[in-house]
Amino acid sequence: MVAIDELLHEHRAVETMLEVLDRLCGKLAEGGKKELNDLKSILEFLEVFVDKCHHAKEEKELFPALRESGRRKWEGEIEELLADHEKGRALVHELKASLGSVPSSMNAAHAATTAKAREYIALLNEHIENEEKLFQAADKLLSQSRQQELKTRFDKIEAERIGPGRHEQFHRLIDSLKAEYLR
Ligand SMILES: [Fe+2]
Repeated sequence: MVAIDELLHEHRAVETMLEVLDRLCGKLAEGGKKELNDLKSILEFLEVFVDKCHHAKEEKELFPALRESGRRKWEGEIEELLADHEKGRALVHELKASLGSVPSSMNAAHAATTAKAREYIALLNEHIENEEKLFQAADKLLSQSRQQELKTRFDKIEAERIGPGRHEQFHRLIDSLKAEYLR
């Protein structure tokens, strides 16, 4: 699998998790400890799999490779995608804070958490759609050998930032939450 394919594959995993998160939001108000624990696992996924790893591959490798290619016409799109990453990062931070600072049984707290989570879901779904337009262009522009080079760098990011076996662990988490919430 070369670089763009890997990012597309990760987008599909993120979309599944966003769908799970949406379902979980619907259950949160009447839910108990289990839903809150699942929400915490999802937040960890968003923080580590999505931001620390997937976004780092784009920010540190793919976007610079496109900029190096001299096609300045994508500069505006790249800036917007980077701004989305920042917004997402801030929302996950706020979500974590909303879970940590209020008693889990309060309805108001659930409503606030749910609203933030849905804001994140909308942001990321739109972001993925926009980003994949750029991926299509990047796939044509970057040769297979350049993409292979990027893929090697992606592996390095994954090993350094999240450690061995963690990616697979997150995929297992997606599978188990999918079986539970998307039946
Ligand atoms: Fe992405």
